[in-house]
Amino acid sequence: MLTSPLPLVSCRNTPPIKAYQRLTICSRRWNSVPAPKATSLAHPRVIFSGIQPTGVPHLGNYLGALREWVRLQDTAPKDTRLLFSIVDLHALTVPQEARQLKTWRREGFATLLAVGLDPSRATVFYQSAVPAHTELFWILSTVASMGYLSRMTQWKSKLDLPEDISLEDSAARSKLRLGLFSYPVLQAADILVHRATHVPVGEDQRQHLEFCRYTANSFNHLYGNIFPPPEAIISPAKRVMSLKEPTLKMSKSHTDKRSRILLTDSTEDIHKKVKSALTDSDASVSYDPVHRPGVSNLLEILSHFDGRSCEDLAEEYKSSSLQSLKGHLGSQISLHLEPIRERYLSLIADKTNYLDVVAEEGARTASANADITMRRVRKALGL
Ligand code: TYM
Repeated sequence: MLTSPLPLVSCRNTPPIKAYQRLTICSRRWNSVPAPKATSLAHPRVIFSGIQPTGVPHLGNYLGALREWVRLQDTAPKDTRLLFSIVDLHALTVPQEARQLKTWRREGFATLLAVGLDPSRATVFYQSAVPAHTELFWILSTVASMGYLSRMTQWKSKLDLPEDISLEDSAARSKLRLGLFSYPVLQAADILVHRATHVPVGEDQRQHLEFCRYTANSFNHLYGNIFPPPEAIISPAKRVMSLKEPTLKMSKSHTDKRSRILLTDSTEDIHKKVKSALTDSDASVSYDPVHRPGVSNLLEILSHFDGRSCEDLAEEYKSSSLQSLKGHLGSQISLHLEPIRERYLSLIADKTNYLDVVAEEGARTASANADITMRRVRKALGL
C-alpha cells in the first residue's frame, strides 16, 4: 500500500458534466452508459488513456483529458479497471534530447498525481516500463493498413506537409520516419494490450481511435475475438483553443508561450496570459465561434469551469466589458489550478522516492494486465 507524502488534492469541485460525446453513441452520462453491446458480456470495462511527456500539461490537456480521467476515476463503478500512462515511447517519434525527456517524463507523471489520480484506484505508469506495448505494436503492424496510415493527418502536420500529400511525394519520402508513420499502431497497441473498452481523450485523438477500432476488428477477423473495439469518450471540452491564435487548438508546439496556460502557472502568469489573449476589434462580449473565435474561446473556457452555457455567460457579460470577462476568467482558472500547482510543486520537490515507487507499482500492475492479453494473442497466433 502506497502512502502519499502529501494529502490528496480534491478535484471534485468541478461542475457537473452534462453529457459525454462518444464516437458511436452521443450525449449520455457515464453512469448511464451501457457497455458496448458487442463487448458487454465478454469484456469488463477498462478505461485507458495516455499523454505524451512534452513538459507540464496545459489547460487543453487538462480540460480535454486529465480532468475527465479524474472524474471517471471518481465516478466509475468499482469493478472498472483504470489505467493512465505517460506515453514516453510516442515522444521519440520527434527528435528528443535525453536529459530533457527524462525531466518531462517525471513532470508528466507528477502532474497526473497532482490533478487527482489516485494510485490506489488507478494504475499510473510509464509506457516504456511495460514491454508488452511494443510487442503488441509489432504484431498489430502485421495487420495495420498502410493505405489507412498514409491517409492519417498527424504525420503530415508534424512534418509541416500538406494534408493531401501522398507517400509517393519526394518531400514525404525524405522527411518521414517509420516511427512517426506507425505512431497510430503503437497507440492502438497501448489501448488494446489492456483490453480497454473506453478511451477518454480530446477531439484531436478521434482519428487515432477510429484507426484503433479498425485495427482491432482486422485482427479479430483474422485471429478470433480477442480485442474489444474500444470507444472514445470525447470530453465536453473537446478542443480548447490557443489564446494567441484562437482558430488553432492550444498546444505545446506553438512558439508563443502566452498561447497556453500551464497547470503550474502562477496566478499572476495566468492573469497576464488571459489579459493578452487575442480577441478582435470589438470590445463587447458575444458568443460567435465562427466570426469571433477569440472571445468565444474565452467564454468556452469559462463555461468549463463555471458550468453555465456560453450563451448564458455571453448574456451576463453583454453589458459589461471584455476586460471584466478576462479578469473573471483569470480568477476562475487560478482558483481551480492553485491546489494542483501546490501539490505538483510538493511532489516534484519530494526527496523520498514516492514518484518512483508509484511508477514501479504502476508498471507491475500494468504488466500483469497486459500479460493476460499477450498470452491470448500469442496463443491465437501460434507463438
Ligand atoms: P497528447 O499528449 O497530445 O494529449 C493528451 C490529451 O490531451 C488532449 N488535448 C486536448 N484536448 C482539448 N483541447 C486541446 N487543445 C488539447 N490538446 C490536447 C488530447 O486529445 C489527449 O487526450 N496520441 C496521444 C497520446 C496517446 C494516447 C494513447 C491517448 C498515446 N497512446 C492511447 C489515448 C490512448 C497524444 O499525443 O496526446
